[in-house]
Amino acid sequence: MKFKTLLMMCAGTMSMATNGQTNQLRLTADNIDQIVAELTTDEKLHLLLGTGMPGEDNPHAMPAVGASDKLLPGSAGTTYPVERLGIPAIALADGPAGLRISPKRAGDDQTYYCTRFPSGTLLASTWDSAVVDSVGAAMGSEVLAYGCDVLLAPGTNIMRNPLCGRNFEYFSEDPVLAGKTAAAYIKGVQSNGVGTSLKHFACNNQETCRNTTDARVSERALREIYLQPFEIAVQEANPWTVMSSYNKLNGTHTAESAKLLTDILRGDWGYEGLVMSDWFGGKDAAAMVSAGNDLLEPGMRHQYARLEEALADGSLTMADVDRSVKRVLELVVRTPRFHGYKATNAPDLQRDAQIVREAATQGMVLLKNENKALPLNSKGKVALLGMGSYATVAGGTGSGGVNNAYEVSLAEGLANAGMTLEPGMREIYETALKAKPKKPDDLYWGAFLPEEILPETAFLQNAAADADAAIITFSRSSGEFADRAVSDFSLTATEDSLLRRVARAFEGKPVVVVLNVGAPIETASWCDVPGAILCAWQPGQEGGNAMADVLTGRVNPSGRLPMTFPMTLADVPSTPNFPMLEMTRKEMLEKFSGFAGATDTTALRRNIDYADYAEDIFVGYRHFDLAPQGVAYPFGYGLSYTEFEYGQPQAKIEGDKIKYNVQVKNVGSVAGREVVPVYASAPRGALTKPLRELKGYSKTGLLQPGESEMVEISFPIASLASYDPEAEKWVRDGGTYNFSSSPKVANVSVKID
Ligand code: GLC
Repeated sequence: MKFKTLLMMCAGTMSMATNGQTNQLRLTADNIDQIVAELTTDEKLHLLLGTGMPGEDNPHAMPAVGASDKLLPGSAGTTYPVERLGIPAIALADGPAGLRISPKRAGDDQTYYCTRFPSGTLLASTWDSAVVDSVGAAMGSEVLAYGCDVLLAPGTNIMRNPLCGRNFEYFSEDPVLAGKTAAAYIKGVQSNGVGTSLKHFACNNQETCRNTTDARVSERALREIYLQPFEIAVQEANPWTVMSSYNKLNGTHTAESAKLLTDILRGDWGYEGLVMSDWFGGKDAAAMVSAGNDLLEPGMRHQYARLEEALADGSLTMADVDRSVKRVLELVVRTPRFHGYKATNAPDLQRDAQIVREAATQGMVLLKNENKALPLNSKGKVALLGMGSYATVAGGTGSGGVNNAYEVSLAEGLANAGMTLEPGMREIYETALKAKPKKPDDLYWGAFLPEEILPETAFLQNAAADADAAIITFSRSSGEFADRAVSDFSLTATEDSLLRRVARAFEGKPVVVVLNVGAPIETASWCDVPGAILCAWQPGQEGGNAMADVLTGRVNPSGRLPMTFPMTLADVPSTPNFPMLEMTRKEMLEKFSGFAGATDTTALRRNIDYADYAEDIFVGYRHFDLAPQGVAYPFGYGLSYTEFEYGQPQAKIEGDKIKYNVQVKNVGSVAGREVVPVYASAPRGALTKPLRELKGYSKTGLLQPGESEMVEISFPIASLASYDPEAEKWVRDGGTYNFSSSPKVANVSVKID
């Protein structure tokens, strides 16, 4: 039962305005101003802080009243309770791929597993808001069932460089795809009557020295690229909260930036919800509250002292405190906990696992399929190679992880689908894996990946004689706290040798590579070797089943790339201004994690303590469309087991929108779905512009062979504007605009004044 229904049933019998005592004032949604007036200064300042991280021995923690381990074990934080006025503490928990709470509790024999959903990159690769919404709705039902009030997700920072450690939990290099995916996710989660936290606002595009690094971004790139996903998500889905990021932006911590948190977020975009800091984010607590960062998480003693001091010396006004206290209370009164909802602790994990599997199949991207190497015969025998085939990476690490009950590897998924695994290879890999067990802290501190092995050629030849095809999985794992090492982008020597040896041994038989990755890897040097390449991303706990669904053709792949796969890292426009570290993750965590940034401003390290976003608005395909060198696989790319033909697109002005429509027909032999994007190319004007920019997209239903669908996409004319930093406003040139779905599809022109 959704929370909202429950709420209606309870509302009549519940009044928070009074309790047993005679007319004691108690918080309701209608008396917040009265409550604020009633609160003591001490209570107000506590309400602006969380109650500390789990574990009572945290020296920085606030008085552990309602500390998160008490309210919801394993959650990330809480707000502060004021019992005398009926203000409960509420529970805040991660994360983007599913609720992250402790699976077990002391003295309790129940388990509290959650579903690990597909990672962000896969969700964006579906180009399907309905699928993303269904994932959000399922995720939100578990948030509600386990008694959490706000899910600290989604993250929608732009993928500025393939090596950012958190790309797996973000969505895209394009602001429209990133924003609309975030919006669908938020709507889904919040449809359960629980909140979300759109993060990390803004420009958290690297993990290296993330708490102190300064993103130096032009006003135009800021507005058109880095803020736009947040603007779209705020305006289309109204998240209950926004989480400010760790980094500085043009010299100021985002958590202390009134320009960002008040002028833009609230002034320009009309946002009325709450802003919370990232955990231990920001520097000066008083500057944070003044700027509009209402809630400081997880809450630390020194922050309370700082707020008190600033109030006393006048650098923080009581008006600012009251404004943020009011927003905390406005958040509290929306929550299930405030309305007396009792956690069922019984989410429908079986139903959600099915949703994971279906969603994962919708986001996988077929990059190559020569001579119909795919789909495989689901009753055939396959030689399965690559450690990732047997230890498939379901998702990334850090706060983006989930404590899920199980994961299905590709090996298990293929067996479940009825395929026979060639026994020789299976034996070799399962033995190798047993020697490298996953350690529990790998899940959080991350990047668990057993080293690849190279079976003897004789074994490969036996397998080739015995099997109908070969599948090799290349996996990558990353997480918050550190970016990917440069070498993580390329195949290792062992991976490359394995691929080439298998291709030789399986001459004349299908060889399929599965990419089990959270972000792009190098493909140009080897993509000619296999017959087929499927980018399966990090597909969640049902990953192996979903991969098998696509590999055997139960589901026709319809995912499209949400970011460019470049030929080399050197081609990426941000690379000269990205950390580009080459060391182990352990070394990165020691040398370049959070607070390791330089404090002496005379010794700032380029790309470590600050990054110049010199590429400006030319991020991803906006750059590559104009660059002389090609790309390995372009933004929006993806194949199908069938073919589609487009009719002549039409476009016209309807009120304040452009309406674009085009007929799509399945002219192949199997049912499939097609993604239809619409890009705009603007007339020449005063501002330089990208060749084309994504303005909207849609995805057809499952079209049977011969079936057609008229796809309609509409988007605001205002979205064609560019930000003029001189005029400090959005401007749009009059003239003829061209709209198209892809270079292969005719474009259509519209004259817009
Ligand atoms: C982390 C992350 C943020 C997460 C928060 C709570 O460090 O940056 O995404 O929600 O802290 O765990």
